[in-house]
Amino acid sequence: MKSSIDKKTDLILRKNRELAAILEVSKSLTTSFDLEQNLSSAMSTLANLLDMQRACVFLLDPIFKELRIVAAHGLTKENIEKGKYRIGEGIVGRVVEKGVPMVIPNIGKEPLFLNKTGSRPQKEGISFLCVPIEFKKEKLGVLSVDRIYAEEHGDVDDDLRVLNIIASLIAQFVKLWESFEKVEKEKENLRRELKGKYQVENIVGQSDRMQEVFESVYRVSPSRASVLLRGESGTGKELIAKAIHYMSPRSRGPFVKFNCASIPEGLLESELFGHEKGAFTGAITQRRGKFELANGGTIFLDEIGDLPITLQPKILRVLQEREFERVGGEKTLKADVRLIAATSRNLEEFVSSGRFREDLYYRLNVVPIFLPPLRERKEDVPLLVEHFLKRFNEENRRKVSLLPESLRILIDYNWPGNVRELENTIERLVVMSGKDTIKLSDLPLNLKVPGPQEMPKGMLKTGIEDIERSMIIDALKNTGGVQAKAAKMLGLTPRQIGYKMKKYAVDDH
Ligand SMILES: Nc1ncnc2c1ncn2[C@@H]1O[C@H](COP(=O)(O)OP(=O)(O)OP(=O)(O)O)[C@@H](O)[C@H]1O
Ligand SMILES: [Mg+2]
Repeated sequence: MKSSIDKKTDLILRKNRELAAILEVSKSLTTSFDLEQNLSSAMSTLANLLDMQRACVFLLDPIFKELRIVAAHGLTKENIEKGKYRIGEGIVGRVVEKGVPMVIPNIGKEPLFLNKTGSRPQKEGISFLCVPIEFKKEKLGVLSVDRIYAEEHGDVDDDLRVLNIIASLIAQFVKLWESFEKVEKEKENLRRELKGKYQVENIVGQSDRMQEVFESVYRVSPSRASVLLRGESGTGKELIAKAIHYMSPRSRGPFVKFNCASIPEGLLESELFGHEKGAFTGAITQRRGKFELANGGTIFLDEIGDLPITLQPKILRVLQEREFERVGGEKTLKADVRLIAATSRNLEEFVSSGRFREDLYYRLNVVPIFLPPLRERKEDVPLLVEHFLKRFNEENRRKVSLLPESLRILIDYNWPGNVRELENTIERLVVMSGKDTIKLSDLPLNLKVPGPQEMPKGMLKTGIEDIERSMIIDALKNTGGVQAKAAKMLGLTPRQIGYKMKKYAVDDH
């Protein structure tokens, strides 16, 4: 028998350990935002400081309506996998259902104890304590431990008290973690929305108009359907044609490009379908045409509107029957080819004037994709500028960047040559500019003066004033701020430069 002093000492020691354990657990729960990691280290603390053999946190999965072990000490991975309970099932399921703690003094004698995890080969003499994890009446899960009671370990009531405190710490942490996860998920969704749902490699386009194009590209790529790309010159038709090919099951096959406007009419047929030796004067050998070369892949017919009316039935036949003959040949050849056509022309007008066959038009137009002109998606301009700056800076080992006011000019410009014109402009700026920062005065003049038809009232005036102002600032910089010299450089009188500096609020020191 222990003396009452010994018992008191035991009690004090035990209280100290309890406090230490609670402190440690609360520390573990705030070390990171990793649910499993924090809970696992909390469970180890329980085991180490309070002699609890197996410590488990079960959390309620709101979708599957079942309890799963999220963290445990003293259980193998396999044990953890098996530890799943429905609400009301076994001790664990009952505790979460009723919301009150349960103690099984000897699990060897308790039929309700299911031992699902299989982690206790020897059940005799083990007590099992289980408390609910709740936050403001919301059932979150269960905390359970195994215990082998010996006198000095204190009694069940002490253990339950400590476990209840720890369960409420865990509850707070789980709620905090849930709201953290929710915010993270929302942030991620927002980020994804901002980036645009559809990404096509090397093609820039976050605008709604381009996102629609990308969506069509994603839809049509897996199929063999013919695609008709429409859009002004330089809008990216060829780029999209290649993207469709490389995103299709034919990506390992060839991508063969042919421009219907590029060669004289007389040579078109043999270019497309090939010829036999001696088919016509100059046909000294047999030659394969573009359709044969594209076998197993994709043929891209650019400027399809320029295809002569005489050749149109042959294209229609390849599309419908998938067969053709070489010029001067008897043998019918099979074509396993997907066709993508492009045009910047008004094909409908060509159809009504009889220059383009209606049946071919409908056959090609299975999936039309319209590439919007750059001036109708100005929000893409900054991204394209960034994209091309990166590329040309890398190619030329430069570090050129644009001042915000220069970027503004590029956004305001109406880009009749679309992305190609923008691409060329940026390349010229990177290659030709001696400086790393592109100011207003470094931009080519044509960009600063928009075409007359798009120019809103007063635009020309402000445009010219912007140019004048930046020229004066530059001249002053180049002459060390000496107005007379700057005036001379600009062909102005000192009086004129003084007046203009005042007008444009240019600092004179
Ligand atoms: N969205 C884009 N992102 C990045 N680069 C683009 C984009 N659109 C076009 N380009 C670039 O602009 C240039 C012109 O594109 P492309 O040749 O595909 O246009 P196109 O519509 O075929 O023009 P054309 O009708 O004159 O033949 C290419 O160098 C291409 O890489
Ligand atoms: Mg093209």
